[in-house]
Amino acid sequence: MTSTMEVLISRDQIAEAVARMGQEITRDFVGESVVLVGVLKGACLFLSDLARQIELDATFDFIAVRSYGTRKESAGEVQLIKDVTTPLEGKNVILVEDILDTGLTFTFLRKLLLARKPSMLKFAALLDKPSRRQMPVEADYVGFKIPDKFVVGYGLDYAERFRNLPDICVFTEDEGK
Ligand code: IMP
Ligand code: MG
Repeated sequence: MTSTMEVLISRDQIAEAVARMGQEITRDFVGESVVLVGVLKGACLFLSDLARQIELDATFDFIAVRSYGTRKESAGEVQLIKDVTTPLEGKNVILVEDILDTGLTFTFLRKLLLARKPSMLKFAALLDKPSRRQMPVEADYVGFKIPDKFVVGYGLDYAERFRNLPDICVFTEDEGK
C-alpha cells in the first residue's frame, strides 16, 4: 500500500487565518464573555491557538462525539461521548470544530447545545468542505473553504494518526497496492 501526503495549507497560512478569526470573534463579542466549546479530539489544536487570538474574557469546555462509518466517511449517526461540564444557560457559546463536512455533527451538536439555552450560539470551523454538505448548515467563522479532499494534520486524523502534523495535508492512500 502506498500513500502520499501533500501540504494543502501551511502552518503560516493557518496562523494567519486563526488570527483573523480571533479578531472577528473579539469584534463580535466586545465587552462580553464567551465559552469556547471544542469538539474533541480534532479541534484541540485549533482551540488552543484560537483562544490566544481572542481578546475577551473566555473560558473553555470540551465535548466529544463519535460518528460511525469508515475511516474517511461518516455514516450519518452521531453519538455523544463526553458532554460539557459548564452550565451554558445565558452564555455566549462558540462551538469550535476542526472541519465542517457533511454538517451532520454540527446539526447534532447545535440541537444539543441550544437545548441548554445559551444567549448566543456561534460556530467556528477552521475548514469547510461545502461540496460535501448533507445538512443546510454554515459556520459563522471559517478559516478556509477547501475542495473535497481528505485532509490530516493540525488536529485532523486518519485513524487517529497525523493529528500532530503542523501543516494541513492532503492524505491519499492507494488501496490494494
Ligand atoms: P461532518 O459531521 O460530516 O460535518 O464531519 C465533521 C467531522 O468529520 C470532523 O470533525 C472530522 O472529525 C471528520 N472529517 C471530515 N472531513 C475530514 C477530513 O478531511 N479529514 C479528517 N477528518 C474529517
Ligand atoms: Mg474528528
